[in-house]
Order: sequence, then C-alpha cells, then structure tokens
Amino acid sequence: MENYIFQAPTKVYFGKDQIKNLPDILSNFGKNVLLTYGGGSIKKNGIYDRVQELLKDFNVFELPGIEPNPRIKTVEKGAEICKANNIDVILAVGGGSTIDCSKVISAATYYDGNPWDLVIDSSKITKTLPLVTILTLAATGSEMNSSAVISNTEKNEKIGTHSPLITPKVSILDPEYTYTVPAYQTAAGSIDIMSHVIENYFNSTEGTYIPDRFAESLLKTVIKYCPVALIEPTNYEARANLMWASSMALSGIIGTGKKGSWTCHSIEHVLSAFYDITHGIGLAIITPRWMRHILSEQTVNKFVEYAINVWNVDPINKDNMEIAKEGIQATEDFFNSCGIPMNLGKLGIDDSLLDKMAHCAYEQGHFDDTYVKLTEEDIAQILRDSL
Ligand code: NZQ
Ligand code: ZN
Repeated sequence: MENYIFQAPTKVYFGKDQIKNLPDILSNFGKNVLLTYGGGSIKKNGIYDRVQELLKDFNVFELPGIEPNPRIKTVEKGAEICKANNIDVILAVGGGSTIDCSKVISAATYYDGNPWDLVIDSSKITKTLPLVTILTLAATGSEMNSSAVISNTEKNEKIGTHSPLITPKVSILDPEYTYTVPAYQTAAGSIDIMSHVIENYFNSTEGTYIPDRFAESLLKTVIKYCPVALIEPTNYEARANLMWASSMALSGIIGTGKKGSWTCHSIEHVLSAFYDITHGIGLAIITPRWMRHILSEQTVNKFVEYAINVWNVDPINKDNMEIAKEGIQATEDFFNSCGIPMNLGKLGIDDSLLDKMAHCAYEQGHFDDTYVKLTEEDIAQILRDSL
C-alpha cells in the first residue's frame, strides 16, 4: 500500500425527496443561482419544475443544453453568465456531463484567460464558485469527486482536469430521479462504474487488500442490480444501489494506496473525442479487448482473483490461464447481456482513423505507468481487436 491523503468533502443527501432541502442548502452560498442542465430530460421527468418551485425566493439564471461529452464552448458560455450576473452558486442538475461542465464553469468564472487552459493545466484553477449537484444518472462519480472531463471539438481532444477546488460542496442523490434513464444509458453508466473499479483493481501495487475487497463488492453490486434496473426501471433498490456505487467507485476509496495510471479511459477518451460516442459504451468495447491483450504469465494471478471473487468462476480442474480467460469472457458476456453494441463497427467506427487515435491516446495518456505498460502499437492493436 502506498502513502495517501484521503478526503471526501462532498456532503451527500441521499434518498427519496431529499430535494426538499435545496433552499436551505443553497442559502448557505447566496441568492444568485446558475441552474445548469442538459438537453431537456429534467423538463420531461418533472425535476426542473420541482427545482423552480423550490427556488422561488432565489434569483435563478439558466444554462440549458449542456451536451453529453460537454464542450469547452459551453463552459465559456456558462462563465460569461456567472461573471455578468454576480452568481453565488452553481446548481448542476443532470449526469456527469452537466456536472463536469459546471465544475469548469465554476473555475472559469475566476479566470481571465481561455478556459481550455484550466483543462490542460489544473494548477491554473485557483478559485471557484461553490457547486451543488442533483444527480440524475448513476455513472461517473462526478457528484463526489474532483475531476471534470471536457471536449474540445476543434482539436479532437477530450481531457480530464482534477482539482479539489471543483469538488461539489453538496450533492443530492435521489435514486427515483434515475427512473427515467433509458436502458442504453443505464447500461452505459453501469459499465462506467465497473470500469472505474476495474482500472484501479488491475494495479501492481502490493498489499492492497482493503481497496481490492471494496472493489469486488462494488463490481458485484453493479452485476446484481444493473440487470434489475434494465428490466424494471423503477425498482428503487436497484437504482439506489447503482447510484451509491457510482459515487463510491470514483470517490477515491478504491484508488487510495495505489500508484499508476488508467488504461481504458485514456483510450476511450480519444474515441469519444473523434466520434462523440457514449463514454460507457466505448469502455465496454475496449475493456475485454484490453484484458485479453495484457493477459500473460505475469498478470494471470490477478485475473484469477478477479474471475473467482467477482464472477464466481469455478476453479476446480482448471489451470490459471483457463480461469482467467473465463473471467474475461464473463465480463464481455455481461456487457453484451446489458444490450451494449460490443464492436466499434456497430457504432459506425472503422479503421480509417485508428492509427491517428492510437497516436493521440499514447500522447495524451500515461501508458508507461499503467498496470501493464503499453506502446502506441499495443493501443492500435486493442483498437483493431475492438472493430
Ligand atoms: O442531456 P439530458 O437531456 O439530461 O439527457 C442525458 C444525456 O442524453 C440523459 N439523462 C441523464 N439523466 C437522465 C437522462 N435521461 C433521462 N432521465 C434521466 N434521469 O443521459 C444522457 C447522458 O448523460 P451524460 O451526463 O452525458 O452521462 P454520464 O453521466 O455518463 O456522463 C458522461 C460524461 O462524464 C465523463 C465522460 O467522459 C462523459 O463526458 N466522465 C466524467 C468523470 C468524472 N467527472 O469523474 C469520470 C468518467 O470516467 C467520465 O470520463
Ligand atoms: Zn468513466
């Protein structure tokens, strides 16, 4: 286990109708509120009306239309509204895209240069507006963490920035607000949660017994409840467990005490940057291909642990390689059973930009520091295997 500092400063209001606390929560920060949201799901499912009703004594300004894979242009727009209207607090209502965009808006409000600087160099984030979130999709963990991922379509770049200053002050997590998430997004979000766990689980740091057991519990939670939520979208138990798994998976609790960088996310972010695909779908396609690519005598023991502890693979009369392969196959079969298109071709992606994407991923990621080091050619091969 490595040394670490752990702090999870977001105050979480979890459960049914916790939104009733919104006026009290916001009044700690001021009267002028920037309400941010996405393409309109919160208007269809009634959350928008409820927020407006609760905020009748506040001055509410709005930034609608935040895109999935949020754009730096939208960050600029939000920061202009904050600067022009003396905003005291940002209220983000939505999934990871709305929350991430709002995080960078909160920093860009106090930054005079181009907000993209804050994405590529987080040391430039020195002051932020307070951020309150109402989560509507279990996936990214953005509701409780210090990261934000922003796309720059002009440069074909999608990059994450990290600063404790952008961590939400308060997040309201009402599982009922995820009842309307469509099956495709429920599956994508669930696989994103699993990927956050897997990226930390496959790590070479010795002696990480606690985070690894936490990790296995989170994976089992998603494996149990994602199929339930897909069949029965209004099953509270399933939505509640997925929602808390989302927050826990990327709250730092799984990654503490471990060193090294992530692999599949760095590859997926390039896919999203070039083709604007859904993050969790890209991860579902890449992850089993990456697993097969790095399976070797050196990594097999970790894969055996994963296969037995997460997927209940029966080890009797099998050698380690067989057990490991069964665990990888179980992962792919599960993603498939959730209705994910498991090939890039099914998303309309061919090999025309493949080498360019591998190059960009290699340049932007930290592949010399991942669980298994990857070369640019390794990344290209994983992408080819994903076609
Ligand atoms: O835009 P609206 O109309 O709200 O619709 C959204 C969007 O189309 C819809 N949706 C959300 N809640 C809903 C709903 N539809 C019906 N009912 C609801 N209750 O779902 C679609 C996807 O939303 P989005 O916010 O894009 O999804 P997600 O939460 O998966 O966020 C993805 C973004 O987060 C980044 C990803 O790269 C991607 O840009 N990530 C952020 C991380 C972080 N901040 O720590 C880490 C992750 O690894 C990830 O990279
Ligand atoms: Zn992710």
